[in-house]
Amino acid sequence: MKTDCSDVGKILFTRRKIARRVKKLGAEVSEKYAGLRPVCVCVLKGAAIFFSDFVRALKIDAELDFIAVSTYGAGTSSSGRLNIKSDVSTNLSGRDVIIVEDVVDSGFTMYKLKALFEERGARSVAIAALFDKPDKRKYDTCADFSCFSVGDEFIVGYGLDFDEKFRSLPFVGVLKKSEIEKQPNN
Ligand code: IMP
Ligand code: MG
Repeated sequence: MKTDCSDVGKILFTRRKIARRVKKLGAEVSEKYAGLRPVCVCVLKGAAIFFSDFVRALKIDAELDFIAVSTYGAGTSSSGRLNIKSDVSTNLSGRDVIIVEDVVDSGFTMYKLKALFEERGARSVAIAALFDKPDKRKYDTCADFSCFSVGDEFIVGYGLDFDEKFRSLPFVGVLKKSEIEKQPNN
């Protein structure tokens, strides 16, 4: 059975609003990287849908790669560990890397991934995030490009999940508290 939209309390970003902003982001990044051929690394799974729209909005040549990491268990708070479940296949030495992430929350994931790619010899590492939660930041990192800032609320849709649900919603909304409380480990 398809995920029930009634678990989403309020729609924050409509499909149209997201599409417009992502297109603009593509133009912005293309201008910054004019003449270069960056490697765009999608952070799976949350950024997958954003990534596919973002790379198609680029007006420059870019290579695509994917990394799967996890910091969260089934709940909504960070576990404090970064596990690389599946790594990129590109040799990043000397390359300009753009990490494409869904949400920068505490900043832990981006702090660790950026350091990892720098260690591997990337020429530059930038972060392009769909959402930024600046009030939640605990690690010294920031998105070089971001589409929207959000507060301290748990959002789902357009790739973002709660316990692997809601990713395929075309909009982004706030998850109802009652839905979060249903999780035994919260
Ligand atoms: P950080 O390492 O604390 O910055 O957490 C970043 C990760 O937490 C993101 O890659 C998301 O997968 C997840 N995350 C943080 N906030 C949300 C949210 O509101 N909805 C869905 N996932 C989130
Ligand atoms: Mg993520």
